[in-house]
Amino acid sequence: MIDREEILARIGAADDAASLEALRVENLGKQGKVTQLLKTLGKMSPDERKTEGPKIHALREAVQGALDARKAELDRAELEARLKTETLDLSLPTPAAPQGSIHPVSQVMDELAEIFADLGFAVAEGPEIEDDWHNFGALNIPEAHPARAMQDTFYIAQGDNEEGAPQVLRTHTSPVQIRTMMRDKPPLRIIAPGRVYRSDSDATHTPMFHQVEGLVIDRNIHLGHLKWTLETFLKAFFERDDVELRLRPSYFPFTEPSAEVDVGYSIENGRPVIGGRENWMEVLGSGMVHPKVIANCGLDPDEWQGFAFGCGIDRLAMLKYGMDDLRAFFDADLRWLRHYGFSFLDTPTLSAGVGA
Ligand code: DAH
Repeated sequence: MIDREEILARIGAADDAASLEALRVENLGKQGKVTQLLKTLGKMSPDERKTEGPKIHALREAVQGALDARKAELDRAELEARLKTETLDLSLPTPAAPQGSIHPVSQVMDELAEIFADLGFAVAEGPEIEDDWHNFGALNIPEAHPARAMQDTFYIAQGDNEEGAPQVLRTHTSPVQIRTMMRDKPPLRIIAPGRVYRSDSDATHTPMFHQVEGLVIDRNIHLGHLKWTLETFLKAFFERDDVELRLRPSYFPFTEPSAEVDVGYSIENGRPVIGGRENWMEVLGSGMVHPKVIANCGLDPDEWQGFAFGCGIDRLAMLKYGMDDLRAFFDADLRWLRHYGFSFLDTPTLSAGVGA
């Protein structure tokens, strides 16, 4: 007679797939013990079959069930063992050297902030989507004024603000003068670097470019303060003492008097090099803040005076670092960025020289 308990115990103790398979063949295979037993049913009398049949079938099911259960256990154990030993490295190899670099525009902005911080200027900001009043009106540029034609403005379609005033992409950083005077009490000393927009495109003009605005409001400020500040700034920026300035009378609606500022340069190896008085190039616009602008901001122009200036940052970068096509600044061409970009560790400091 077959020992059911012994078979089930041996199945439960089988410790690999091969011995389990051997036990299956031994019991349920064609010549297997249980299979043989099943075959005896055919030769039994109906009465005998009635009592023996269910027992034999139950035995077969018990053996099959034990085989299945043990197989599942062995499979699970095998999977766990594999999970413990196999590893998959999902991390990417690190590059040999850091790949990113600081864009020349960011570098120059950092240099400007460093130079002007040393002179006591804070950095101010304003929105790039401006309303007509901050961009033009408050700066003494009324709607019909010809000075508006000097700037090719991007007006925003249906861009009226909450008060119904038309909105523009700011054409210069000068509206930050207005926002600063309206928000803070004088005395004020700020620079405002940022993006500006004009509908213009060639080798030296892009529809988006960068300016830095300067504003000083205090008592008894005069043109001498402006000239000294610009001279100090440009000498520190170009890192040479022989930077020569020439102030030319000019016109801006928001300054009176107004001056355009040229710096002297010479040509070396076909490139302009700042210094000396051989040739002149214009680098910024400036002047004494117009009394009307001061009054537009709610200040008394008899008490407060000031000077302001505005300067193209991209232009400064080109002059200092030798690029000759402005459009490449904004092409996001990795070869250009690798060539002209700066290491993020080259933080401009006055002591070590602001330039990289
Ligand atoms: N906003 C002028 C421009 O974009 C530049 C400028 C000129 C700014 C004279 C000033 C200034 O603050 O005093 O062309």
